[in-house]
Amino acid sequence: MKKATTAKRRYPAADVVKRYRGVGLFITGTSTDIGKTTITAALAAAFRQLGISVGVCKPINTGCPVRPDRAGGRATGNDDLIASDATILARAAGLTQNLETLLPVLSPIRYCVPVSPHLAARMEHRKPDWRRVAAALKYWQSRCDILLVEGAGGWKVPIDAAIPFAIGDMAAKIGLPVLIVSGCYVGTINHTWLTVQAVRQSRLPIFGVVANRRPATPDFGTMTSTDSLDKVTGVPLLATLPDTPFDDTGDIPPALVDALLPVAKKYWKQAKRAR
Ligand SMILES: Nc1ncnc2c1ncn2[C@@H]1O[C@H](COP(=O)(O)OP(=O)(O)OP(=O)(O)O)[C@@H](O)[C@H]1O
Ligand SMILES: [Mg+2]
Repeated sequence: MKKATTAKRRYPAADVVKRYRGVGLFITGTSTDIGKTTITAALAAAFRQLGISVGVCKPINTGCPVRPDRAGGRATGNDDLIASDATILARAAGLTQNLETLLPVLSPIRYCVPVSPHLAARMEHRKPDWRRVAAALKYWQSRCDILLVEGAGGWKVPIDAAIPFAIGDMAAKIGLPVLIVSGCYVGTINHTWLTVQAVRQSRLPIFGVVANRRPATPDFGTMTSTDSLDKVTGVPLLATLPDTPFDDTGDIPPALVDALLPVAKKYWKQAKRAR
């Protein structure tokens, strides 16, 4: 009888991605659309307010619209696609002057279809080019005080259809401490705890959890949804952010930046102590 194995197969294609040797954070979430870009952008703005220069990178972005200047609205590669999340991050980090030239280091791998990277790669006939991610990390190494790296979807989102290699495995290669974005809804403790457990398996340090989109007038279930989250998971709940509707093409609302200022201060202090 064939022996069952859970051992991870090697994925040498991603071995070119090396550990980031500067200060930074990897921002993951309990799911897609939970608010990773929003929190990363608000954090970037908070660090800037503290006089700390910020680099931003979204290594893999799916669901990128085709650039309007591309003939027939067709995309054949990264350069035909708008870096949707990275554009928001770059604006918050104050990096808009050279946006066009910075695109490869802000958003090295882009896909058009709004699905998991492993499916987008298959549908668009392009495996992730990990050399682009490696080059982006190398670029930021000497050019910012802190690098914020946004994941895609959640921790266990697959990147390759044939090999068990997920966003969390990419994060493990980059080696940065992790910030988890979760929500304010009944069920978030379960989702957050599962994510914490998965991140712990990678042995990366977890800086904490930010619970996003707390409604202005929460019902009892929502109001108590993050109660005991820190005790249950063993990870600090760093902040709870209010639901603050805004236009994704504009600036991040000051209320969100203000709410993350103490988090940015805390991280910077901790990072300086560790160096
Ligand atoms: N605190 C908030 N208040 C109001 N709207 C928010 C808040 N946080 C996020 N949103 C909105 O929710 C949507 C999804 O947020 P965001 O793009 O940050 O999620 P994400 O986790 O980065 O998604 P993806 O998995 O696609 O990268 C966006 O339209 C954003 O404006
Ligand atoms: Mg995002």
